[in-house]
Amino acid sequence: MAEVKENLHMEKIVSLCKRRGFIFQSSEIYGGINGFWDYGPLGAELKRNVKELWWRAMTRAREDVAGLEATIIMAPAIWKASGHVDTFSDPMCDCKKCKKRHRADQLCEDQGLALTKGDNGQFAFPAGTKCTHCGSTELTEPRPFNLMFKTYVGPIESEDHVAYLRPETAQAIFAQFKNVLETSRQKIPFGIAQIGKAFRNEVTPRNYTFRSREFEQMELEFFIKPDEAIEAIHGSVATVPVSGHPGEPQPNWGWQAWHQYWVEERVRFYEGLGLARATLSFHVQTADELAHYARATTDILFKFPFSKRDEKGELKGEELEGIAARSDFDLSQHQRFSGKPMSVFDEELRNAWPRLPQARQDALWQRYYAHRQRYLTRMGVAEDAAARQATEDANALAKGNYIPHVIEPSAGVDRLILALLTNAYTETVKTDDKGRSETLYVMQFHPRVAPIKVAVLPLLKNKPELVARARAVFELLRHDLACFYDEGGSIGKRYARQDEAGTPYCVTIDFDTLGENPELHDTVTLRYRDDGRQERLKISGLRQWLLEHVR
Ligand code: GAP
Repeated sequence: MAEVKENLHMEKIVSLCKRRGFIFQSSEIYGGINGFWDYGPLGAELKRNVKELWWRAMTRAREDVAGLEATIIMAPAIWKASGHVDTFSDPMCDCKKCKKRHRADQLCEDQGLALTKGDNGQFAFPAGTKCTHCGSTELTEPRPFNLMFKTYVGPIESEDHVAYLRPETAQAIFAQFKNVLETSRQKIPFGIAQIGKAFRNEVTPRNYTFRSREFEQMELEFFIKPDEAIEAIHGSVATVPVSGHPGEPQPNWGWQAWHQYWVEERVRFYEGLGLARATLSFHVQTADELAHYARATTDILFKFPFSKRDEKGELKGEELEGIAARSDFDLSQHQRFSGKPMSVFDEELRNAWPRLPQARQDALWQRYYAHRQRYLTRMGVAEDAAARQATEDANALAKGNYIPHVIEPSAGVDRLILALLTNAYTETVKTDDKGRSETLYVMQFHPRVAPIKVAVLPLLKNKPELVARARAVFELLRHDLACFYDEGGSIGKRYARQDEAGTPYCVTIDFDTLGENPELHDTVTLRYRDDGRQERLKISGLRQWLLEHVR
């Protein structure tokens, strides 16, 4: 499970996923619809397990995170405030010759070139850029294409009734920040977690489910105190180790410690699902790549077989999750656009501030003022109005009020599923005594995520006593574990089917179970998927054993 799947062809994964019911093309009987995928019986279980594990790790296991489940369609003003209406676009172009539509940046990247952006914000192709479909250099100028799906709310199809399918779940969290804060009795620092569908009208969906038009996100918005507040309360912000996990959260952590903490927590989460560190890599966004409001973003990448290679020929990886330090941008935007205050009152800060020496107060006041003023002028607020507002904000800080900053670990469910499928896939060719070869496929999922945890198999289907006992064992297990009963075909064939489904354990009921060998009465054969090892277990302890091993 630990090695990177270097030379695996995606077609093999796609074929197994279809054959075994992990993933189907959406609307397949009508020829499919590009960028949309359905999860079959095994895929649906796998996905549920992943979401459940995320929810458990991010909310139930923590005292400082509360959950949310918001609607997909929200007031369109939310997307104006967030910047999505104006800027959530990809550069698109068409080939004038073959009419193929491309994402202009990807077209360049595929040819080892880079799309350039002029001072006027317009994109331009570097010389030599060709259509990768027909080779023509006659391409339309790159133009922005907004990725949000539009619809109308109510019976009138006019601009006044336009609404959008959410392109990320995050904005609902910001919009409900105050309601959650007030009802959950949380205090900063704390987070709000949400899992849900997101929609993006991607210009060129590709790499199977990796870039889809409908997908799911698992997002946490973790609200923290601004560094100026931490400094006022604790004297200074904690220094952050150069690398590695900074340990248990501390009251004097600033945004950098929290950012590093969440990157490391998320890596631990992926490791816990069976993605070894060697299969992951990081991309720390450069100043050029960062969104204007972001202070830092670290992407966690998984080395997919279709990932590009670096100069040394090693797989670079593709983004599974981004962990962004988003400052106080989002809540500030919603405060300005909705007119509703998004600030919180912090008693510790209110008490600490008057005790600071005047010079320290002045320095923190100035820094906070400068940050707020920079944000406001960037958002187009006139200079004098921005200065007035920033003065008000800095005065409010001195009285214990601020808009919280945010660290956002944002993961894609479907990308994680694809990573788990790729990671689990193994094939071996087995040749029998007569020289006949067959390929055996084993999906080596971590038991935690495996869609079926245990299969119950009577050795023979034409022996009623074996079948009755196997049904009883199945009944014993199926209420607490995703369980599959199978009596069709030879035992070897049934094991092979479960290997392909990624079932970590098979339980076989044989004549010894019934007491043929009195010492083995009421025991079953337990078979391990990855090495075919077998051992006997008592039926009385089976449920507990399995529960402990799939946790
Ligand atoms: N709220 C921040 C945000 O949405 P993003 O990097 O645009 O950030 C977060 O998306 C995650 O959502 C990505 O890391 C990826 O896992 C997933 N994601 C984004 N676009 C996707 C797409 N078209 N198909 C599948 N997953 C996608």
